[in-house]
Amino acid sequence: MQSDPNRGNLHKIVILNPKGGSGKTTLATNLASYFARRGPPPTLIDCDPLGYSMRWLDNRSSKRPKVYGIAAHDHCTESGKGVELHAWPGSRQMIVDLPAAIPENQLYYQTYDADSILIPVAPSEIDIYSAARFIANLLLVAQFDRRKRNLAIVANRTRKNTVSLRMLMRFLSSLEIPVVAQLRDSQVFVRAAAQGIGICDMPPHLVRNDLDALESVVTWLDNWKMRRFDAATSGITRRAPEAEVLTPMLAGHD
Ligand SMILES: Nc1ncnc2c1ncn2[C@@H]1O[C@H](COP(=O)(O)OP(=O)(O)OP(=O)(O)O)[C@@H](O)[C@H]1O
Ligand SMILES: [Mg+2]
Repeated sequence: MQSDPNRGNLHKIVILNPKGGSGKTTLATNLASYFARRGPPPTLIDCDPLGYSMRWLDNRSSKRPKVYGIAAHDHCTESGKGVELHAWPGSRQMIVDLPAAIPENQLYYQTYDADSILIPVAPSEIDIYSAARFIANLLLVAQFDRRKRNLAIVANRTRKNTVSLRMLMRFLSSLEIPVVAQLRDSQVFVRAAAQGIGICDMPPHLVRNDLDALESVVTWLDNWKMRRFDAATSGITRRAPEAEVLTPMLAGHD
């Protein structure tokens, strides 16, 4: 999937990890709530046929700060084709929630024009093994260029002082890709998901530590223009694939 190449100030954030249940939708919906609260309304693009981001949006009260939703799963799984998507006019962020199973040949289309790519990784042996394979594919198959500095990892569902967390952090530090935050394994994420809100919408005393971690992700994301400028001045560019232009169906509140 591609976004409008003339999108100017629109920040395209892609959240991916082929490992199911790593926290992609949780991160996408929490970022959407955060940006919505800050304004202007962001656009949340759900590429998963299961549609959990759109379900989250359906549960969101119209009294909450607006998040625009696009159900785009039909257009994100076509093998070998690029599809152009447009965010809602006025959005500054376009957050793309990708499904677990992405064919290898789709990786390039999904990532080549992303300003920021976030990979949530959970601390279990199987998640670490799967993340190692996936990141290798991203670098090789999708010709991802680390020098662009637009890729970061979020350690998700972490528990303090556990062997699995130490194993995860050791693995991540070997990758030379920044780990921008550690999100705790916490029921606040589960509760927020069920209500169509983000943790930033919950009482501050319940979420203080979790919100600090989410804000670390936002701080890294907000630096996207500087990262893009640095890449451009270093002469790092990527060739755009041929794209089919589609206006996707809109879902969620109008
Ligand atoms: N930090 C966390 N603390 C507690 N529960 C979490 C956390 N992150 C995610 N979860 C829960 O784990 C489950 C899977 O999370 P989520 O749906 O975000 O993963 P996903 O990567 O989008 O999954 P899929 O690959 O199926 O799309 C959900 O029930 C979610 O509420
Ligand atoms: Mg998901």
